[in-house]
Amino acid sequence: MIEKKIYQCNVCEKQYVKFQGKCDNCNEWNTISECVISKKKENYPNIPKQIQNIEIGNIELIKTSDDEFNKLLGGGITKGSLVLVGGDPGIGKSTLVLQLLLNLNEIKTLYISGEESEEQVAIRANRIKIKNKQCFIVHASDINEVNHHITTQQPILTVIDSIQTITNEDIDGSMGSVSQIKDITNQLLTLAKTTNTTIIIIGHINKEGLLAGPKVLEHMVDVVLLFEGDSKNNYRILRSVKNRFGHTPEIAIYTMKENGLFPINNPSSFLLSSNYSELSGVAIGIICEGQRAILIEIQALIGVTNYTTPQRVANGFDPKRLSILIAILEKKIGLKLANKDVFVNIVGGITIHETSLDLAICMAIVSSYFDIIIPRKHCFSAEVGLCGELRTVPFIKQRIDTAIKYGFDEIIISDEQCTTNSRNVKHFSTLEDIIGSYNG
Ligand code: TYD
Ligand code: MG
Repeated sequence: MIEKKIYQCNVCEKQYVKFQGKCDNCNEWNTISECVISKKKENYPNIPKQIQNIEIGNIELIKTSDDEFNKLLGGGITKGSLVLVGGDPGIGKSTLVLQLLLNLNEIKTLYISGEESEEQVAIRANRIKIKNKQCFIVHASDINEVNHHITTQQPILTVIDSIQTITNEDIDGSMGSVSQIKDITNQLLTLAKTTNTTIIIIGHINKEGLLAGPKVLEHMVDVVLLFEGDSKNNYRILRSVKNRFGHTPEIAIYTMKENGLFPINNPSSFLLSSNYSELSGVAIGIICEGQRAILIEIQALIGVTNYTTPQRVANGFDPKRLSILIAILEKKIGLKLANKDVFVNIVGGITIHETSLDLAICMAIVSSYFDIIIPRKHCFSAEVGLCGELRTVPFIKQRIDTAIKYGFDEIIISDEQCTTNSRNVKHFSTLEDIIGSYNG
């Protein structure tokens, strides 16, 4: 038995989902009241089965011409799936997906633009300089129209740019509101499953953060890719934060050029300044994104403050983590930072979510504070505990191998970390020990 609460007019029996004072049907006032309807359902088609006996069909993939993108999705875009590409406005989402469509020659694709006119998208396509007869564009902002175009055109791959500009008039809420976004996504989900078109949804991240925007639909879609980077520099990082068909979290790195986005096939050291003479305030750390280790430059600047409250700025990582590391440096190393501004920047506009950069961040701060230069061939990979102890980080072999490949001859890690490669590795147990070894 299924029970459902509804509101019903007791004159004309018109039903409503929400309470209202006047019936729209018979124009009577105060005739609507709450009632519970129940439906008896006896035919349930699904019966429990043994998992081991479920037949698994072949998962079909759409392989794009962009190998980095394919890798990010575990080989390609799974047919019939719903993929969300989120990111700040202007980061390059429209460019990325348009490029993907234009490069797919063998299949029919449809770009539904609710944001820009057909002409504006064509201008972007001209910039990218690829012609493709199978790639169609239509401007639409009503979900019923979107539905119509997908069912009549039957594209293999459809792009919706962006979810925030598509509306359903039957639903309350303004364009881009949470109720609208949820409803539209639900409808797209059904469309993807029934028509077997694969849908890429573009979603802007609003100022209020993810919550008001695409975050509400993350659990509804199969894959979530986040496009990040700094609009000032040309690097863009596409991060897979959820993938129902994939393996580990992965990233792909692109550069934005005059004629589109270009994947960087070997990103291991792209974030290091190339012509760099040795300076104080710089330390190199290693992050591990999915299968890949990447060397990253950290810059710190410590100076006497001109304000009553000194400034603490963390660009590219959690400011709370910076406060913790500052507290550890004050307590364990004796750095006097209470009247100093501390600015720390992860070079390249990448945002880091792992604690393995702790040690490199501390070393950059120490280097700026004492004005000592950390040799360019040294790099760091350890988490720093609250007592100043160095802690282990995952995938240490990958990190060390990558650092050695890029010419680093001293890789400083926690002495709790076991490793088979000892030639270029130095083990330390505390932050104090390392700093002692630099400060003499
Ligand atoms: P866009 O894809 O419109 O961003 P989003 O859809 O995320 O809002 O691209 C934004 C920027 O990229 C815009 O400032 C112009 C620049 N751009 C290039 O530098 N090269 C190009 O080839 C294209 C198409 C855009
Ligand atoms: Mg756009």
